[in-house]
Amino acid sequence: GKRIGVLTGGGDCPGLNAVLRAVTRKGIEVYDHEILGFRNGWQGPLENLVMPLGLEQVEDVLSRGGTILGSSRTNPYKIDDGVARLKATLAERGVEALIAIGGEDTLGVAEKLSGEGVPVVGVPKTIDNDLDATDYTFGFDTAVHIATESIDRLRTTAESHHRALVVEVMGRHAGWIALHSGLAGGANVILGPEKRFSVDQVREWVQRRFERQYAPIIVVAEGAVPEDGEEVLQAGEKDAFGHVRLGGVGTWLSEELAERTAKESRAVVLGHTQRGGTPTAYDRVLATRFGLHAIDAVHENDFGSMVALRGTEIVRVPLSEATAELKTVPLERYSEAEALFG
Ligand code: F6P
Repeated sequence: GKRIGVLTGGGDCPGLNAVLRAVTRKGIEVYDHEILGFRNGWQGPLENLVMPLGLEQVEDVLSRGGTILGSSRTNPYKIDDGVARLKATLAERGVEALIAIGGEDTLGVAEKLSGEGVPVVGVPKTIDNDLDATDYTFGFDTAVHIATESIDRLRTTAESHHRALVVEVMGRHAGWIALHSGLAGGANVILGPEKRFSVDQVREWVQRRFERQYAPIIVVAEGAVPEDGEEVLQAGEKDAFGHVRLGGVGTWLSEELAERTAKESRAVVLGHTQRGGTPTAYDRVLATRFGLHAIDAVHENDFGSMVALRGTEIVRVPLSEATAELKTVPLERYSEAEALFG
């Protein structure tokens, strides 16, 4: 067998451990390979941080969130001698192939390394579901479930107090989590980054809801932007008083709505709860299938490829497709949902 390195990079995501388990079990038991885990994304091969992956290490991890290998956003191409150091570690450790599990950044590095002759296979990962090369990524379903449950819970307290509740969900560039959790939770307004929103239009929907004696729930993606002239501080940025804002657009919109409707409004930023904890059954299955197919690709020396979901099939696509295009929500999907707003 071969010695195969595996790493998880970028933001963590429920299902990463399910991939590691499938790679390790099939790699060892079916193909007789040896699996070496690198710690903390590309930092592992850069700084020679390893964790051997055997059957024992992956025994109880299928249902566990996060990643047992740790993660980071380290990019060897942004570090002096980074690539040379990384290659030196692979040579020293006798690693003959790499499986890189990550999003755009991690897979971008994988693609460049592959161009330089490093044998790499990619596995796509993001809760945002915005990678164009695959129909779905694991982690998305879990994030949508968590956001939907939060909306359900926020609705009963909003109703009791006759107030609006603005729920800010993750999604800087794509509104998939907002759209799906909003539809599933029966949100009265759904706003994503793909389409600038008019606060006045949102106010109308909110007022209509209040007039019917119900509490409006507004789901807004963190990357959503209002129409011209209206400035929103992004999370973490400092306001005019030098205070760091907790939520970005959600908190801002809640304050605007309270002012314009003379009704109470509260904002909740779901943040990293959407990424933590145990993956749903759907995500465990998808992550497991990705892992099984990734180790097949390595076994067949099909490097420079990435596993992807097309319909119900797991296919292989060139790694370059991973970063080629962002999959945003088509505007028609927002228009379709609009029939249920207010
Ligand atoms: O890409 C996944 C994601 O959770 C985004 O939805 C979010 O904008 C970002 O990562 C948050 O990054 P960090 O974990 O570094 O705060």
